[in-house]
Amino acid sequence: MKLKGKVAVVTGGGGAIGGASAELFAAQGAKVVVSDFNGRTAQQVVDKIRQAGGEAVLAEADVSKVPETAKIIQAAMDAFGRVDVLFNVAGVELVKSLHEHTEEDYDRVMGVSLKGSFFCAKYAVQQMMKQGSGVIINMGSIAALNGHAQLASYCAAKGALINFTKYLAIEYAPYNIRSNCICPGTIATEMVKRAAAANPDLVEKNVLQHPLGRMGEVREISDVALFLASDEASFITGVSIPVDGGYSAGKVYR
Ligand SMILES: NC(=O)c1ccc[n+]([C@@H]2O[C@H](COP(=O)([O-])OP(=O)(O)OC[C@H]3O[C@@H](n4cnc5c(N)ncnc54)[C@H](O)[C@@H]3O)[C@@H](O)[C@H]2O)c1
Repeated sequence: MKLKGKVAVVTGGGGAIGGASAELFAAQGAKVVVSDFNGRTAQQVVDKIRQAGGEAVLAEADVSKVPETAKIIQAAMDAFGRVDVLFNVAGVELVKSLHEHTEEDYDRVMGVSLKGSFFCAKYAVQQMMKQGSGVIINMGSIAALNGHAQLASYCAAKGALINFTKYLAIEYAPYNIRSNCICPGTIATEMVKRAAAANPDLVEKNVLQHPLGRMGEVREISDVALFLASDEASFITGVSIPVDGGYSAGKVYR
């Protein structure tokens, strides 16, 4: 019970990694706010948590709209009275090069990943400052650590989250608020299936670049999120952890 008595907010909680993380957090004793703009899939996660004996509420919201980010944190306050953990998982992929990008493409990708995480963090830290504790986990990517062809706005958004994570760590350390980022390699989810549908070759070649020679599993990300959210990581703040089968360690020649 690594999160016993804690209240956790998970955005993108109706998706693969967010849903698995919400369920794992709840199984470890957290009361969870499952937030997603897809209310149907997020409600399914809430139902699963409750069926397993846990506590969860739904907060249907579009994180790219600032007033809705405030509502997510308010939902945690209304249901459980505090916010101990914010896991900013919501994100969208877009396989598109810069020279093809429209303003709408940029706004969508940056709006969900960067702006959404930024403003969810804003409203969460306002509460965490009052509590004198809190944990924020942002969702980066290997595309945050290195350039990736055809992922123009995705690289820009995820890369920015790494330094935003460091910023949060520095500014809010005096309030005992920790901030870290997870940078997954390619994980077997619908998002990757969609990217593969757009460009199968890109995903296949990408997987071969993981030294462990496979995609990661959702659980391999949620386990790291649980660790970072828990007191086991009490002296870790401001870091971005690759969880990528060795992808960012160096080049593989296959
Ligand atoms: N799957 C991978 O290989 C991989 C690798 C690195 C990073 N990531 C990141 O992990 C996160 C989760 O990815 P996933 O594979 O679980 O994808 P997913 O598509 O299953 O989950 C993403 C969730 O975000 C939600 N979402 C999208 N736009 C939203 C918005 N405006 N407001 C609120 N919610 C919104 C979607 O409805 C979905 O439930 C993303 O940030 C993604 O960029 C994934």
